[in-house]
Amino acid sequence: MHGATCAIRGTFFDLLDDPWKYSGKEHEAARFIEDGLLVIKDGIIADFGPFAAVSPKHPDIAVTHLPDRIILPGLIDGHIHFPQVRVLGAYGNQLLDWLQTWIFNEELKYRDRDYAREAARQFFDALLAAGTTTCLAFTTSSPVSSEEFFDEATRRNMRVISGLTGIDRFAPADFCITPDDFYTESKRLIERYHRKGRNLYAITPRFAVGCTGEMMDSCRRLKEEHSDCWVNTHISENPTEVRSAKDHFPDCSDYTQVHEKHGLLGPKFTAGHGIWLSNDEMRRFSKAGAAISFCPLSNLFLGSGLFRLGRAKDPDFPVRLSVGSDVGGGNAFTLIRVLEEAYKVGMCNNTMLDGSVNPRDQDLAEADRNKLSPYRAFYLATLGGAHSLYLDDTLGNFNPGKEADFVVMDWNAGQLAMAWHQSLAISGSGPKTIEEAAQLLFGIMTVGDDRNIDETWVAGNRAYKKVPR
Ligand code: GUN
Ligand code: ZN
Repeated sequence: MHGATCAIRGTFFDLLDDPWKYSGKEHEAARFIEDGLLVIKDGIIADFGPFAAVSPKHPDIAVTHLPDRIILPGLIDGHIHFPQVRVLGAYGNQLLDWLQTWIFNEELKYRDRDYAREAARQFFDALLAAGTTTCLAFTTSSPVSSEEFFDEATRRNMRVISGLTGIDRFAPADFCITPDDFYTESKRLIERYHRKGRNLYAITPRFAVGCTGEMMDSCRRLKEEHSDCWVNTHISENPTEVRSAKDHFPDCSDYTQVHEKHGLLGPKFTAGHGIWLSNDEMRRFSKAGAAISFCPLSNLFLGSGLFRLGRAKDPDFPVRLSVGSDVGGGNAFTLIRVLEEAYKVGMCNNTMLDGSVNPRDQDLAEADRNKLSPYRAFYLATLGGAHSLYLDDTLGNFNPGKEADFVVMDWNAGQLAMAWHQSLAISGSGPKTIEEAAQLLFGIMTVGDDRNIDETWVAGNRAYKKVPR
């Protein structure tokens, strides 16, 4: 991979394992280096550790020092819509009406190359300003939107996954694509973009309500012929959607079976939301190695419901999880705000399960798994997201050999009271222990926002620097 050769000195925090496996001692899943050195060669991490130990091994390398900041692996957005960059925050509808009222009309504009190109610039600027370096993204049913998405990602050398987004019913006729055209165009785009630079391709049936059996058959054929590709879709987001999907696929006993029947549920499959999945469906996700992207900002904005985080993290049947902004169902780009909403969803679930509402529903273990500590939260946004996408050998922490995408956070930036708030978490001017670092990060995710993102680096190059406003 091409990228920079350099070294970064600063305070680092990353995850080495899933903190849900370390109940009561979650810090053992994480790593904190107060004065560290990250050595990068051609965009890949070549060495990492305490400055005093690593620095003598690389006497000639140029070092950039980033004091008073905490450096994390680049954030991974497991579910986002590139062509919704202009319609986040649209008023008043639940999912199916919202799509018809606001979304399809806007996405139709992405047939126009100039419009799509300008949008791609805006989209990636917004992602980087949010600290996000990798995303699994939907485009539209027009190949132009996928081309512009991948071309802009290529110019920025970003690790992205995306693909032509198939829909052949439930949308205006000129927005639909036939299953045959979807198959042909997807194949062309796979040849052109998959594993070219840092681009990866996802076969993308939008959702079962918008896909006929023939469209799903096209997806199955594509996955059979390109098994290395990812699959990206939506599942069980909204109760009316779930009912409608069952009506459209009467031979399937539940929503998950639509994907099982079409050979899609398995490794490298991600479905957004999964709020209304049954316990049995979650178990089948777990066994198949399929992933869910948890999108709480969107789920609350569209009134879709509360994702059962603690159930998905059942240690006997753990489901691979990422967090997603789901822009524009989600009304912000930054995963910092997504984590804030995830924390709140988890706390609501916790109340429902602690026995105080109904003693018969009490499940203290699941209740506890809903609590989103900073270790759990930043795991989902980094290494956990990478794991869900089968990219944890490439992304997610600072282990040598991985790609050098990272985000530099200013824990004091944000609302006026932030610095005063954060000073409670630390004994000195910066974090001295892993627990202090975790407390600062919890402050960022609950009191902060994208103003805490000071710099974002892609393959060892600075791709974003906050300008004071
Ligand atoms: N289901 C099908 N399309 C969409 C979309 O654009 N956003 C969300 N949140 N759900 C969907
Ligand atoms: Zn979505």
